[in-house]
Amino acid sequence: MRKTLLMALLLAASTALAQTHPYLDTRLPVEQRVQDLLNRMTLEEKVGQLTQINVQRLMGRDEWDRGPLNPEWLDRILAKQHVGSLLSGGGAAPQPNTPEAWARMTNDLQRYALTHSRLKIPILYGVDAVHGHNNVIGATMFPHNIGLGATFDTKFPHQIGEVTARALRATGITWNFAPDADMGRDPRWGRFYETWGEDPVLASEMVAANVRGLQGPALGPDSVAATVKHFIGYGSPVGGKDRADARITSAQLRGVHLPPFQAGLTAGAATVMVNSGSVNGVPAHASGELLTNLLRGDLGFRGITVSDWEDVRKLQTVHKVAPTYRDAVRMALAAGVDVSMVPHDAEGFTSAVLDLVKSGDLPAGRVDEAAARVLALKFRLGLFEQPFADAQKASAAVTAGTDLALRAARQSITLLASDGRTLPLGERARRVLVVGERARDPRSQLGGWTIGWQGLPKNEDTRAITILDGMKQVVPKGTQLRYSAGVPGQPDADALVVVVGEPPHAEGEADNPTLALPAADLALLREATASGKPVVAVLLAGRPIVIPDDVRTRLAAFVMAYLPGSEGGRAVADVLYGNTSPSGRLPFTWPMAAAHVPAPYDEPGRSGAPLYAFGHGLSYTTFAYRDLRATRDAVTVTVANTGRVAGSHSVLAFARPQGSTSPARLVTFGRVVLQPGESRVLTLALPLGRLPAPNVSIHVGDLHATTID
Ligand code: NOJ
Repeated sequence: MRKTLLMALLLAASTALAQTHPYLDTRLPVEQRVQDLLNRMTLEEKVGQLTQINVQRLMGRDEWDRGPLNPEWLDRILAKQHVGSLLSGGGAAPQPNTPEAWARMTNDLQRYALTHSRLKIPILYGVDAVHGHNNVIGATMFPHNIGLGATFDTKFPHQIGEVTARALRATGITWNFAPDADMGRDPRWGRFYETWGEDPVLASEMVAANVRGLQGPALGPDSVAATVKHFIGYGSPVGGKDRADARITSAQLRGVHLPPFQAGLTAGAATVMVNSGSVNGVPAHASGELLTNLLRGDLGFRGITVSDWEDVRKLQTVHKVAPTYRDAVRMALAAGVDVSMVPHDAEGFTSAVLDLVKSGDLPAGRVDEAAARVLALKFRLGLFEQPFADAQKASAAVTAGTDLALRAARQSITLLASDGRTLPLGERARRVLVVGERARDPRSQLGGWTIGWQGLPKNEDTRAITILDGMKQVVPKGTQLRYSAGVPGQPDADALVVVVGEPPHAEGEADNPTLALPAADLALLREATASGKPVVAVLLAGRPIVIPDDVRTRLAAFVMAYLPGSEGGRAVADVLYGNTSPSGRLPFTWPMAAAHVPAPYDEPGRSGAPLYAFGHGLSYTTFAYRDLRATRDAVTVTVANTGRVAGSHSVLAFARPQGSTSPARLVTFGRVVLQPGESRVLTLALPLGRLPAPNVSIHVGDLHATTID
C-alpha cells in the first residue's frame, strides 16, 4: 500500500517536473534532453554517474554479505554519492534467488534512487548474463559462446540475445556485460569458453547478431544495453594466463582482435568494457591510444566505456603505473574510461574525481562528456519513463527459451571421431552403461558464470537436464540403460558412454596450462577403454582437451559437447541415439599437444599438424559440394546430402590472395538442412572488405575457385 502511494507520488512529481524540465519531455531528441539535464546537475551529481558499485556493498553488513538491503549504505551510496549504476558481479543475487526477488530488489533500489535523487535520475543495473540470465536459479542456461561458435549459425546468438534481454528487463536489469568479443586464440586461457572461437569472421558475425538480439532494432523499454568486452587484446595473454600481458603486433591487433569489436559497434553496441590486462606492456585502462584514438577516433564509438572490476585501482596496485589511487583515476579517465566499476568504495572514487577536477588535473569537460554518455543511455532505454520491472512477469521471462537452448545445444555438438559402428546407439547397443559423475551432475555442462561466478555452488541447485536424464528420456524401448559412477570390473554392456570434462570455473581459476583432463576423468576413460567394450567419450569442456594417444585412439567415438547449458543433457542424448545427426564444427584448432598452442589455423603453430583442424566435425550422413563459384560479393555452391539420414551442415568458405602461400582464412559461412538425396544451392554473402585481396582463390572443402567480378 505504502509502495503504491510512493509510486503515485513519484509519478505526480515527475509529471510536475516534466512540465518545467525539458529533459523529461520524451518528444525531444535524446541529445537535447541530456544537455538540459546536464545543465541542471552539480559536479557531485555528474561524478555519481561515472560510479558503479556492486550491489553487495548495499546488502547486509559488509561488501560480501548478501543480507537485505542496508539503509545506511543505501543512503551513503545512492543518496550521498549519487551513484548512477549498480551491478551484480557473479553470484551477487538476492536471497532467495528467485526471479521475483530479483525484480523486487532492483525495484527497491530504483525506488530508493529516484526518491533520493534531486533530479529523479534512475539507475542503470548491470549483470553478466553471458548464457541466459545465468545468475538466477531456475533460469534457462544457454550453451556458452564456444558451443554457439560450433553451430556457425547466427540465428542462435540473435534469438538468445532477444530472450535474454526480455528476461533481464523483467527483473529490472538494463545493462548486460555481454557479448564477449574477445578472440579465443589460446585455449589454455580460462576465458576461452566465453569466446566464439579463434576465427575473427565467425566471432564478428556472432557478436553482431547477439548485440542485435539484446538491443533490438533500437534501444527501448524492451531491450538492454549490450557490452562488447574486453577492449582489446584480452584473448592473447602470454602463456594463456588470464590478465597477463598480450604481446601482439599491430597487424594482429587490427586483423584479428579488432573485427569482432568493430562488428559489435556497427551493430549498435551501446557500451564497451575494457581489458583488465595490458597490451604490449601498457595497461588497457590507461591507454589513450586504445580507448581514445582507436575506439573513439578510428571506430567512431559514441557510447559508454566501462572499466572492468576494480581495474582503475589496479593501475596502482597491480600494474603499478600509477603511484597513487588519485593518479590511477586521473589516468583512466584521461585515457577514456567513462564509468568505473569501482566496485566497493564509492567515496574513494568520487572524492578522487572531485579533487582532480577542482585542482585542474582533470578537465571538467571530461566528466561532462562521460556523464552525458551515461544519461543518454538511460534516456534511450526508456528508464526515465519506465524505471520499474513487473515482478509478476519475471518468472515466465527468466525460464523462457528452453526449446531454443535445446536446439542450440544440439546443433553445437561436434562428433570428433567415430568408428562408424558404435554411434548412433541403436540395435547393436541394447545394453548401454553410462559412466561418470558428470553424467548426472549438471555443474560441468553449465560451466562457469552459473548462479555462482565459478559455476553452480555445491550447496545450490538449478534446473538442468543432465546427460543421464536426457538419455533416459530418449532411450528406445526394449533397450537397457544403466548408470555407474565408476567403471565396473567386467562391464555387462554392449557400449559404454563415459562422460568426462572439466569442473566449472571462471577467469584465472579456469586457466589450464596443460589442456589436461582432470586425473580422475582420465582414469575413468583409461579403465573404460581397457574393458574391451566400445567406449563413447562425451567431453564437457570449454576448450580442446589433450587426451593421451593410448586412450584416445582406443575410443569408439569422441563427442565434444562443450558447455551445453541446462538443456545440454537432452541434446547430447539426441545425438547419441541418432535423433539428431551431429553437425557442430570446431570453432578452434584442436592441438596434438599443449606445447603446440597457441596455434590458430590462420597462424600456423609451433610444431606439427593439429589433431582436429578448425572446422572439423563428423556427421551420421555425408555431404558433397559441387559447382563452386565466387564473385566479390558472394560464394555460391551446391551442397548435396549423399548419405542415408537427414542432416544439417555448415558450409565454410575460405580465401587467400591468389599466388599466396599464407593459410586461407574463413570469409563466409552458412547452413543448410538436407534430406537424404536432396541438394541445394547455397549463396553466401561476402560483405565489402571481407576478401583479403581483390583477386583471391576461394575454397569450400576440396573445391577451389577464383573470384570473378
Ligand atoms: C570481471 C570480468 O572480467 C568481466 O567480464 C565482468 O563483466 C565483470 N567482472 C563484472 O562481473
